[in-house]
Amino acid sequence: MNILVTGGAGFIGANFVYFQLKNHPEDRIVCLDKLTYAGNLETLNEAMKHQNFRFVKGDIADRECVFNLFKEENFDIVVNFAAESHVDRSVENPEIFLLTNILGTQTLMDACRFYSIKRYHQVSTDEVYGDLPLDRPDLFFTEDTPIHTSSPYSASKASADLLVLAYARTFKLPVSITRCSNNYGPYHFPEKLIPLMISRALANESLPVYGKGENIRDWLYVEDHCSAIDLVMRKGREGEIYNVGGHNERTNLQVVKTILEILGKPETLINYVTDRPGHDMRYAIDPTKIHSELGWLPETTFDEGIKRTVEWYLNNKQWWQNILNGDYKEYYNKMYSNR
Ligand code: NAD
Ligand code: TYD
Repeated sequence: MNILVTGGAGFIGANFVYFQLKNHPEDRIVCLDKLTYAGNLETLNEAMKHQNFRFVKGDIADRECVFNLFKEENFDIVVNFAAESHVDRSVENPEIFLLTNILGTQTLMDACRFYSIKRYHQVSTDEVYGDLPLDRPDLFFTEDTPIHTSSPYSASKASADLLVLAYARTFKLPVSITRCSNNYGPYHFPEKLIPLMISRALANESLPVYGKGENIRDWLYVEDHCSAIDLVMRKGREGEIYNVGGHNERTNLQVVKTILEILGKPETLINYVTDRPGHDMRYAIDPTKIHSELGWLPETTFDEGIKRTVEWYLNNKQWWQNILNGDYKEYYNKMYSNR
């Protein structure tokens, strides 16, 4: 099988590349990535040594680049991870989110139609469902929960999902969609909550918690997300949406305190800062469908996964310090200096 993985130099895409090379070494993986601020070729160093892996630098919204690659490679499956993925950046500047997340998805699907690809898989997010109230712990997102977005990021992801379903119905494109909760694990860019808190706590720097830190996220270890996508793209039903999550709900404050405890750092590092505008309160996934149809279950609990993640950041300081020493420094100062 020849598989195109877009956005494979980012957090989840790179973990997925390694998951495929390990579990399906007979398949060929081609990674198409624009190498934005979030893409890091260093992450793919080990993959580059594999004879069944090829990296191509390019934009999923660049029609000529995409069509040329499809012509050359004759893909069987396309998995689209490529996206602008950070809510805070989408509040600052929504436009690139629309270009990459919506028009990029359309360009890829046009190529899939033209070259009669067997499966187009869209990696989506639970954020398309909006949020749940904190006082209703009995509520969960199912695949039938209406789309109700809050941020330019989630609106762009929801738009892409709607386009994917439209291409399935109108053009009979063989598609599938997974909507996953928050991921964490190795290669997570240090602008997101967990790696940001680990890297800053290690440097004894203040930890910016938005609002009261009471917002809830449903955390999934990244390898469990990779196994879910792998199952759905190979065995999931065409035209279907599958929610992915492992019932690991934690408030942001719980997450930050757990990291401090593992690192042996004091809670006095916590700094409550102005809340994110439009901040979603709670995400929580009902994963019944993917479990009952495909037998998927997560393997890593939050307590185990967070220890493993902190350990990874301790053992791979060079990886994230290279990022912190670059342009990202400017971004952090801009976003947090007056907060
Ligand atoms: P990321 O920001 O770490 O990586 C995104 C990758 O896409 C980067 O390598 C970047 O260079 C590349 N990219 C961006 N624009 C591109 C373009 N126009 N053309 C080609 N490549 C481009 O993101 P992530 O956290 O790994 O998320 C991957 C996907 O999973 C996204 O679609 C995101 O919406 C979805 N998702 C993420 C989470 C999460 O918790 N991180 C949860 C659910 C779903
Ligand atoms: P984030 O990792 O940006 O993921 P998402 O917004 O897609 O869920 O944020 C996770 C949670 O952590 C979210 O409720 C916002 C909060 N947060 C902070 O409190 N401080 C921070 O510096 C960041 C980046 C996030």
